[in-house]
Amino acid sequence: MKNNLFAKRMENIRASEIRELLKITEMPEVISFAGGLPAPELFPLVEIAKISSEVILEDGRKALQYSTTEGYLPLREKIAERLHRVFKTTVSTDQILITCGSQQALDFIGKVFLNEGDVVFCESPSYLGALNAFRAYEPRFIEVPTDDDGMIPEELEKLMLTCSRRKLIYVVPDFQNPTGRTWSVERRKKLLEIAQKYGVVIIEDNPYGELRFEGEIPASLMSLDNTGTVIGLGTFSKIFCPGMRLGWIAADTDFIEKFVLVKQGADLHTSTTSQMQVNRFLEKNDIDMHIAHIKDVYRERRDTVIEAMEREFPRSVRFTRPNGGLFTWAELPEGLNARKLLEISLERKVAFVPGASFYACRPKDNTMRINYSNMPEDRIREGIKRLGEAIYELSSISSIAV
Ligand SMILES: Cc1ncc(COP(=O)(O)O)c(C=O)c1O
Repeated sequence: MKNNLFAKRMENIRASEIRELLKITEMPEVISFAGGLPAPELFPLVEIAKISSEVILEDGRKALQYSTTEGYLPLREKIAERLHRVFKTTVSTDQILITCGSQQALDFIGKVFLNEGDVVFCESPSYLGALNAFRAYEPRFIEVPTDDDGMIPEELEKLMLTCSRRKLIYVVPDFQNPTGRTWSVERRKKLLEIAQKYGVVIIEDNPYGELRFEGEIPASLMSLDNTGTVIGLGTFSKIFCPGMRLGWIAADTDFIEKFVLVKQGADLHTSTTSQMQVNRFLEKNDIDMHIAHIKDVYRERRDTVIEAMEREFPRSVRFTRPNGGLFTWAELPEGLNARKLLEISLERKVAFVPGASFYACRPKDNTMRINYSNMPEDRIREGIKRLGEAIYELSSISSIAV
């Protein structure tokens, strides 16, 4: 009966497989490679306690009051300055809108750009949270074949020609969620050329770019763009704390004006208190040092997970070796199903996310996402050992050699 009351768009919105899985992984005995959670032991609790009380005691009447939709000006200034320094962009303060995490920005992008049936091009696979946010606006997804260097431009261009209602290209070019892959600069340039040629907007979602363990940060799409084609999304979730729920949209002011309108309807503004706390943290502490510390810890964990997979997994399982970020992506031999593997590995108290739900259109059942940021090295080794055993068990049950 109640079903008649729901809007049609709700048919497209399903519970995220990860959210469901996280309920299981909260059990302390489970070794979880499932969530994309930062390591909580790296949250700077003492400093946050100090700045929080300073913000309330010194400026509490402002911190607890309504504030502007665009966001707290000093924080927007710092974000613009940081984007310039780290990602070589030229965005100004008025091109920054503070959002409640970049997840809110993804929802706003759907709201501002997508009519039912409009086309969103995305990587294959892509970030599940973005696909789900866009789904509410009933677009048509077109998955673009992708290799280790990013989207394959010739394939993108061919697909562009197959449809007329082209709107957005959604990409995560740095340490992508879920694969951990990073695009080459060559591919970034090609993507921009194609987007400009066909008049399509690029969404560059970049939560992990600063978490680079080796090498230089490559030119961001935003920094390569001088035509206002790229909308950049950023967040404090992975370089500070996700519980603050602070992210941002960096874009041409024409776009920002629209986002401000939808944000007014959604929540008026992002928490004034959170914004002032993070702003003060940036004033009183060295965020670069904090990020360097996070990277040291995650680099060790990345090394540990890769070494363990090389040792424990059959040779026929392929996986990515990311230079940063939180994830590696593994592909089982054809015919082995990662959802079945999850059932077996959960019996051994190990969780990961089967890769199928990261595909907008054509799921590959033999893929899996493995997160390495959230556990100490000994648990990573033990978890991968059990996962390796589970793969051999699945291979013998399925009669597929590995
Ligand atoms: C690619 C990508 N975009 C956006 C988000 C959302 O991040 P938040 O809303 O915490 O800023 C995530 C979170 O894992 C992500 O991986």
